[in-house]
Amino acid sequence: MPVIRTSEQALEVGNKPLRYVQIGIGGWGQHWYTEVLPRLRALGLAEAVAAVDINPEVLRAAKENLSLWDDQLYTDAAEAVAATRPDFVIIVVPPAKHEAMVDIAVEHKCHILSEKPIADTMAACVRIHKKVTAAGLKMAVTMSHRFDQDKQSLEQSVKSGKYGPLNYIVHRFTHNCREFGSWGVAFRHQIPDPLLIEGAVHHFDCLRAISNANAKVVYAVAWNPPWGEYAGDSTALVTIMMENGVKCFYEGAKANASTLNGWENDYIRAECRDGTLELDQRRLHVLHGPAWEAPASEELSLLEQPVWKNAWLAELFVHWLNGGDAPPNILEDNLQCAALLFAAIESAHTRQPVDVSAFLARHLGND
Ligand SMILES: NC(=O)c1ccc[n+]([C@@H]2O[C@H](COP(=O)([O-])OP(=O)(O)OC[C@H]3O[C@@H](n4cnc5c(N)ncnc54)[C@H](O)[C@@H]3O)[C@@H](O)[C@H]2O)c1
Repeated sequence: MPVIRTSEQALEVGNKPLRYVQIGIGGWGQHWYTEVLPRLRALGLAEAVAAVDINPEVLRAAKENLSLWDDQLYTDAAEAVAATRPDFVIIVVPPAKHEAMVDIAVEHKCHILSEKPIADTMAACVRIHKKVTAAGLKMAVTMSHRFDQDKQSLEQSVKSGKYGPLNYIVHRFTHNCREFGSWGVAFRHQIPDPLLIEGAVHHFDCLRAISNANAKVVYAVAWNPPWGEYAGDSTALVTIMMENGVKCFYEGAKANASTLNGWENDYIRAECRDGTLELDQRRLHVLHGPAWEAPASEELSLLEQPVWKNAWLAELFVHWLNGGDAPPNILEDNLQCAALLFAAIESAHTRQPVDVSAFLARHLGND
């Protein structure tokens, strides 16, 4: 599906601002109410009718940014949605709670813009897919990193065809978050498979987008070194074969001694027949060279547009609800990303390669 590049489509006349409820006002919820949602209001696209968090202390902070009154702050999502009847909900609670929030949205016929991953298990992802589809609702998943300026620029360079066919991709994401609590909040240090569930899911979606294909087979080795303060695996080396023959190799680590390529500063090298495209710390180069000399390197400009990541995705989502084209991060597309994620987890646990489409078919009950 082609990426829709226009921004500020909302300036279309005639649409009243849509009404939404933000559910989850924790660490990332703050990003939403400070960086993403004020813009939707400024564009006249959507406005908050309630904010929800089981922790009443964090609600106060959202009040001003979302222009809410005290009686629009709730500690119970079902109550908030029943009372306000929004057009859509924004889900920003931990992955294991996503399905319960989707159930509330479905019950009240609200569309859904949800944080990644769809849910914390493949079974829950498939249940969500079935429930949302059966209800005829629209749902999209905010894969912020795939829709960042640097990744979009690399993706477009690969897809331009200027450097010939893509052969393989290497992706590095390495971080020193070994101390308990250093990766944002406690839950990431306590859940199973934190690197894959909370980190690699973004990178797998970038690999799908850059290679322009879904995954065919995945083989993952995942572990936690003794100095990583994690209950689950914080480190992984993953090989993915895409359906179109492109091969990918992913290195992800949250307990290293240094942060070489942390969040938003990934290293991704796309080896094309006629050029090596190298993205490192948000700078994109193309390299060429003969057998024995250092390659010549040319810096490529990054794409420009008003906003990237969730601000862009939120705008595309509202445009879709207003009758525009579906964005590239719809539930249907993201189910493929979830299949790759949970197939990688199965591979890591069984130490066997996993056929991703057979894995998805098994979970959908279509095998
Ligand atoms: N770049 C990104 O895309 C990015 C970055 C960080 C987090 N996230 C995603 O955002 C989501 C939330 O992560 P976070 O870091 O904000 O976690 P967090 O723990 O900081 O915040 C979650 C909030 O949800 C609240 N909550 C939990 N259960 C609830 C319920 N039943 N009803 C209402 N509120 C409830 C908690 O009280 C907490 O305030 C996750 O899906 C995570 O993967 C995405």
